[in-house]
Amino acid sequence: MSGPYRPDALIAEDIDAYLARHQRKTMLRFITCGSVDDGKSTLIGRLLYDSRMIFDDQLAALEADSKRIGTQGQGIDFALLVDGLAAEREQGITIDVAYRFFATDRCKFIVADTPGHEQYTRNMATGASTADLAVILIDARKGVLTQTRRHSYLAHLIGIRHVVLAVNKMDLVGYDRDTYDAIVADYAAFAERIGIDAFTAIPISGINGDNISARSDAMPWFYGPTLIEHLETVDLGDDTARDRPFRMPVQWVNRPDLDFRGFAGTIAQGAVAPGDSIRIVPSGRTARVQRIVTFDGDLDRAVAGQAVTLTLDGDLDCARGDVIAAADAPPEAADQFEATIVWLADEPMLPGRGYTLKLAAQTVGAQVQQPKYEINVNSFEQLAAKTLELNAIGVATVTTDMPLVFEPYADSRELGGFILIDRVTNATVAAGMLHFALRRAQNVHWQPTDRSREHHAAMKHQAPAVLWFTGLSGAGKSTIANLVEKKLARMNRHTFLLDGDNVRHGLNKDLGFTDADRIENIRRVGEVARLMSDAGLIVLTAFISPFRAERAMVRAMMAPGEFIEVHIDTPLAEAEARDVKGLYAKARSGALKNFTGIDSAYEAPEAPEIRIDTTMMTADEAADLIVKRLIP
Ligand code: ADX
Repeated sequence: MSGPYRPDALIAEDIDAYLARHQRKTMLRFITCGSVDDGKSTLIGRLLYDSRMIFDDQLAALEADSKRIGTQGQGIDFALLVDGLAAEREQGITIDVAYRFFATDRCKFIVADTPGHEQYTRNMATGASTADLAVILIDARKGVLTQTRRHSYLAHLIGIRHVVLAVNKMDLVGYDRDTYDAIVADYAAFAERIGIDAFTAIPISGINGDNISARSDAMPWFYGPTLIEHLETVDLGDDTARDRPFRMPVQWVNRPDLDFRGFAGTIAQGAVAPGDSIRIVPSGRTARVQRIVTFDGDLDRAVAGQAVTLTLDGDLDCARGDVIAAADAPPEAADQFEATIVWLADEPMLPGRGYTLKLAAQTVGAQVQQPKYEINVNSFEQLAAKTLELNAIGVATVTTDMPLVFEPYADSRELGGFILIDRVTNATVAAGMLHFALRRAQNVHWQPTDRSREHHAAMKHQAPAVLWFTGLSGAGKSTIANLVEKKLARMNRHTFLLDGDNVRHGLNKDLGFTDADRIENIRRVGEVARLMSDAGLIVLTAFISPFRAERAMVRAMMAPGEFIEVHIDTPLAEAEARDVKGLYAKARSGALKNFTGIDSAYEAPEAPEIRIDTTMMTADEAADLIVKRLIP
């Protein structure tokens, strides 16, 4: 049935009838993945060409952030179509994934198309997160490659339960059955090891259209379905999400001048009906569902996958990020988890660095600890790892600043899948899947004490504060902090100075100067400073503390207004000229690695409370200025 592409005549005659017909069809979302040059563009072009494309804006609009292609011409040429897709993809280099729509008489399809020249796992992970099925493409001449394994493993991790192994370019191996059988056997052995129970293998040629929509005359030995037949008839059969207890993450709260206050979101699992008892997590408050409101009117019942607005009896406090759940089977909330993490950024993961974690509608601060292990996607060995680099997959503990309402990823993609975002660049740096909450998170509770931090401060007749000195090595942090402490002592203030070189002799003597160790250095010092401020002290810290992210993290640990960032702003040339400890000379000669300002970064504060230019004033003048700012 391949031939020039012809749009459905109904599009021109009666667009509404055409749309209505398509609206009733089932919808399959899938992703194509594999290695570079496996013929993905040709295959997608072929699928669009052999089927009937959908052009309507309405359908496209249903799928937000999607892209559509508009090749409206009659009798368009196949090669032109493939070129058009490729050109569009090139133009959209910044787009991780383009979504293509097409339909046959039986089914609608959305295929996630990822830029071909970028073999980054990121695009694949983005496309896979909403897909029901993965078409793993293999070049018949090359067989199963590392990239095939990585993408299969990732598709499986991300929860895609249906896999098609499309052995492409069969024309280039003379449609040879033995070649095909060997690849399928190879893949089967691999699939079993990673827990893919079943897959459907199909020998195809995207360029010639063999076994895409029409059966191939060149491969009479193959009795299975064509790719389109398989895609049309695959039984997604995943109604399990509907059978589990009800959960709906609240995306937004509607309370305009309407006569109701509604909580809008997409049902992640289970079903809901008016009258049901629900519990809002984490607050734990209960209520009953009054109405299920949708664009097309109220519903008697709604199930997983539907976007609805619920109204509740009682004026409950419920915010974006909360989860409305079945009252008798609410989900857990926890702040420490084990998770699988797929690292998607060029910069490696930094254990201890604060990232933004997004799960369902929740956004929290999070840290990833040093990985328990990294997974070798070829051998499935567990490798020791200090960090995760681009495309690496590992297992690690994730801690969050606030309890997160969740389900294990194996039970719920919506409530178990998360992404990590870099706080400075706002880029998505990782995708993750929660396994379980660590039990220590549930068994360690905050122990209330009778003497509060206010008592401690009141006894000392002072307001606690943290004067956080930051700057290059040799900038003068210790010298000035030392003078400030002496001046405060003369004013009868109770202080304590934590100095980098000193703390590194004791508490932090296990730490060096890698980025990860510096992050841990600052995290510990932040915790100590926090405890000391709870004890009512004025704490002074003198650490290079080179990264903005960790200084921001410590700031967030302190009570509002108590963190005072003091940038001892000495130019590198000046610090190096002074070179009090002789370390710059060593660093320049290569004898000392990772030296701040030489081969390790210093990120200057953007808006410190106090900035001291040591080329403009003496250390004593600087100290006076700081004391005056603290005690006006
Ligand atoms: S931080 O970067 O983790 O905040 P910290 O302030 O604790 O550093 O320690 C810095 C001090 O360690 C410097 O003043 C210097 O005396 C010493 N030092 C030794 N090696 C390095 C290095 N590679 N980079 C910076 N400082 C170093």
